[in-house]
Amino acid sequence: MLIQRPEDILSSEITPRTLFDGRREFIKAAGAGVLAGAALFAGLSRRAWAGGKFTDLQKSPHSILETPNSLREITTYNNFVEFGFGDKGQPAERAGAMRTRPWTVSIEGLVRKPRTLAIEDILKIAPLEERIYRLRCVEGWSMVIPWVGFPLAALIRQVEPLGSAKYVEFITQMEPAAMPGLNLPYLDWPYTEGLRLDEALHPLTIMAVGLYGEVLPNQNGAPLRLVVPWKYGFKSGKSIVRIRFTDKQPRTSWNIAQPEEYGFYANVNPDVSHPRWSQDKERRIGEFFKRRTLPFNGYADQVAPLYADMDLRKFY
Ligand code: MTE
Repeated sequence: MLIQRPEDILSSEITPRTLFDGRREFIKAAGAGVLAGAALFAGLSRRAWAGGKFTDLQKSPHSILETPNSLREITTYNNFVEFGFGDKGQPAERAGAMRTRPWTVSIEGLVRKPRTLAIEDILKIAPLEERIYRLRCVEGWSMVIPWVGFPLAALIRQVEPLGSAKYVEFITQMEPAAMPGLNLPYLDWPYTEGLRLDEALHPLTIMAVGLYGEVLPNQNGAPLRLVVPWKYGFKSGKSIVRIRFTDKQPRTSWNIAQPEEYGFYANVNPDVSHPRWSQDKERRIGEFFKRRTLPFNGYADQVAPLYADMDLRKFY
C-alpha cells in the first residue's frame, strides 16, 4: 500500500509490547468504572474512545490461540486515510471528531428486503462474540486483535439476497468536517470495498463492533467495521454506512487507485509479491524479528476451497 513501505516503518514507531501493555491495566480501570482511564492512554485522544463495555460475550471457536497485541498498539498504529496518510498515529489523534451516533446502515441492491438499520438494532442481530484474529496488512506488518463482533452472514440473512446477487459492496462514512483526509488525492471517496457473496457469507467473516471487550474506538472503524481475516487489512472497510448487493464485481478504492498493486481478492499470499516488495514475511507489531507469512494468513484450511478453481497469481 502506498502508505508506507515495510522498510520505511521506523522501529521507533513500533511500540514494544512490554512498554505499553495497557491491557491488564485497562481491564482493571474499566472494572473500577474509570473508562477513559486517561493516564493509561497518554497520547490516545480521549474523544477517540467511545467507551462502553460489552457483557456476556461468547468465546468463539474460530479464535486463534496467539497472544493479542496490546490495546495501545491496536488503537494507536492505524490506517484510516480519512484521518491522514502515512502517519500511523494520526487516526488516534483525529478520529475522535467523527460522529458515531446516530448511525444507520442502509442495506440495499439485489435483495428481497432492503432495510435501513440503526446501529442499536444491528447490535441485537446476533449474539456478540469475542474473536481473536490475525490482521495482516499489505504493508508487511501484522497484529493479533481480540475483536467483538458477529458473523456478517447474520446481517445478510436479514435482507434475503436475490439469486442474482453475486457480490457485496461496502461503502464507508464521509464526514468532511471531521475527516481531513477526504481532501487527499490518493483515493476515490467514499472508501469502498467488496467481497464475493460466498466470501461475505463465510463463517470467518465478521462485522466488528468492539475490541478488547469494549466499543470500537473511532480509529479502528467505529461503530461498525468489516473484518475478513484471510485477506490483507485493506479489505476491512471501517465505519460502514451502506452495504449493497450487486451482480457485478464492485469497484474498490485501492483497486481504482493502483490496480496493479491491489487486486479485488487481496488474499494474504506469501507466494505473490507486491510489485514493490515481497509478501513472504511480516513484522508482528511489538516484535523485532520477522515471522513467515502464512497462506491465507493461517486460515487456509477454512478458506482455500473458496478459490479451488482460481489462479491466485492472476486473481491477486
Ligand atoms: N477503512 C476506511 N474507511 N479507510 C481506510 O483508510 N484502511 C484499511 C482498512 N480499512 C482504511 C479502512 C487498511 S489499509 C487497513 S490495513 C486496515 O483498515 C487497518 O485497520 P486497523 O487500523 O484497525 O489496524
